Amino acid sequence: MSRAKVTIQDIQKAKEEKRKLVMMTAYDYPFGLMADEAEVDIVLVGDSLGMVVMGLQGTVAVTMENMIHHIQAVMRGCKSALVVGDMPFMSYNTSIREAIANAGRLMKEGGCDVVKLEGGAAFAPTVEAIVRAGIPVQGHIGLTPQTASALGGFKMQGKDAAAAKQIIDDARALEAAGAFSIILEAVPAPLGQLVARSVKVPVIGIGAGPDVDGQVLVTHDMVGLFDKFVPKFVKQYTKIRPIILEALREYRKEVLEATFPGPEHSFKMPAETLKQLQKMVK
Ligand code: KIV
Repeated sequence: MSRAKVTIQDIQKAKEEKRKLVMMTAYDYPFGLMADEAEVDIVLVGDSLGMVVMGLQGTVAVTMENMIHHIQAVMRGCKSALVVGDMPFMSYNTSIREAIANAGRLMKEGGCDVVKLEGGAAFAPTVEAIVRAGIPVQGHIGLTPQTASALGGFKMQGKDAAAAKQIIDDARALEAAGAFSIILEAVPAPLGQLVARSVKVPVIGIGAGPDVDGQVLVTHDMVGLFDKFVPKFVKQYTKIRPIILEALREYRKEVLEATFPGPEHSFKMPAETLKQLQKMVK
């Protein structure tokens, strides 16, 4: 029996019931299907696709069209997890009007259930306006990859007490603006716990330690499909890249040796048809 669709009410209830939330990224149909089979709660079509799927250096160049294309593919496979569409850089930063229009496009054209955007208290008015327009929003604070250059690179955030306090204030501002959940990236574990305790909405950590309300990882990192750079907070549950590479090398070898395709991979032709054909092409 297939699982019922996960709703934002289920996500909020999980925190009340102290049940950890499980979130992963997906960028295409096969991973959308597998996310449902693994019964994860939330699937993020993250702009991390710029790095792990498109081979870009960061997420800044990812466009609305890229996001819509990948959200559509994930939605074809993912029927029960709650699907979050990530708002790309500069799709919500220039004006609130544009932010609402672009959040609407991710939902209407992509088909995702909710959207996510990066930024703390400074983006609370934007979050509030999008929520008021009827679109649920997940916040994202701590390390915000779209503005990594302004933060001095992909580095842990909240190092001193003032910076840590700002992150708690950011979480509170997003909650007050109506965000249904918050992603907290790359902060010391004790700060993760404090942030999760400071708000009623679920705080989902990525490099924020164990004492938050759930965890998210970039799937291509977690399965070892993207291993150019593996952040400290990633656990590789498998290393799929060498397995795929081995299969590709074996395929090349067999094609060169003409041992693939074998009879079991070839279509047969009745002997009589072949005879007739040979006469015709003589
Ligand atoms: O784009 C993404 O995959 C993300 C995660 C790092 C949370 O924002």
